[in-house]
Amino acid sequence: MDLLQIRNIQDEAARVQKIYEVFHEDSRLNRSKAARVEFLTTVRVIEEYVKPGDKILDVGAGAGEYSLYFARKGYRVSALELADSNIRAFRAKLKAEDDLDLVQGNALDLSRYEKASFDAVLLFGPLYHLSDTEDQLRCIAEAKRVCKPGGKLFFTFISNDFVILTEFMNRSDYFTSGDYDKKSFRLEDFPFVFHTVDACRELLRRGGIQVLREVATDGASELLEEKINALDEAGFEQYLRYHFYICEKPELLGMSNHLLFVGEG
Ligand SMILES: C[S@@+](CC[C@H](N)C(=O)[O-])C[C@H]1O[C@@H](n2cnc3c(N)ncnc32)[C@H](O)[C@@H]1O
Repeated sequence: MDLLQIRNIQDEAARVQKIYEVFHEDSRLNRSKAARVEFLTTVRVIEEYVKPGDKILDVGAGAGEYSLYFARKGYRVSALELADSNIRAFRAKLKAEDDLDLVQGNALDLSRYEKASFDAVLLFGPLYHLSDTEDQLRCIAEAKRVCKPGGKLFFTFISNDFVILTEFMNRSDYFTSGDYDKKSFRLEDFPFVFHTVDACRELLRRGGIQVLREVATDGASELLEEKINALDEAGFEQYLRYHFYICEKPELLGMSNHLLFVGEG
């Protein structure tokens, strides 16, 4: 099935299933130095708020990159993922000694988890796909419900304003014929759902989340992929230091494919 056919699938969960038969999550965060920037930045922020032994829920866990990282560092990890293909990719990475709970399910219903049972909840994916605002709020409410008082919630979004440049890099006619409103620069929400920085803030405010941190997790690393991948280790270390230096500057926040918000319920 191609993306044109997938676009016409009305049921959101069924659409997500098909999207991840086209987009492969397996190596998205680890296939290159440039691809690693998002992961390294996200983990660096999360680790400021949690300690080994804490309970983490990874909702929309994909191929398990975050779940496996934290489980192998001694955190107690539960992972929930919707798409068959990503569950398969996740299971393929599991080693006999990995101790984590992986289930297939939907972020809209976390009733299998008890209220106030996790120190941290990661919502790294469902908000890339839920197109209805009420569903987005329900998903945030579920994450809040299972998070302990004082626990931390981590939300990621795809940045509307930067993806325009990423698309331009892939298609030289994107500015004239791309799928976005030519006046407001609002992207069509397919195959992902896109948010401006202000829209993220407004959604989290409506969801009763107090935002503590806002981070541009990958910045321009996809646009600069070739250059970054050609760096030697010392160059890459220094690129990362530069990225960490700029990634929370408010004036640069939207200039990133992915945005991370840290909050409390
Ligand atoms: C781009 S991937 C991100 C995977 C991983 N969390 C990461 O950050 O690399 C988005 C993930 O969210 C999952 N997802 C989307 N909607 C979901 C929902 N309603 N419930 C659970 N998972 C969902 C997708 O199947 C996919 O694995």
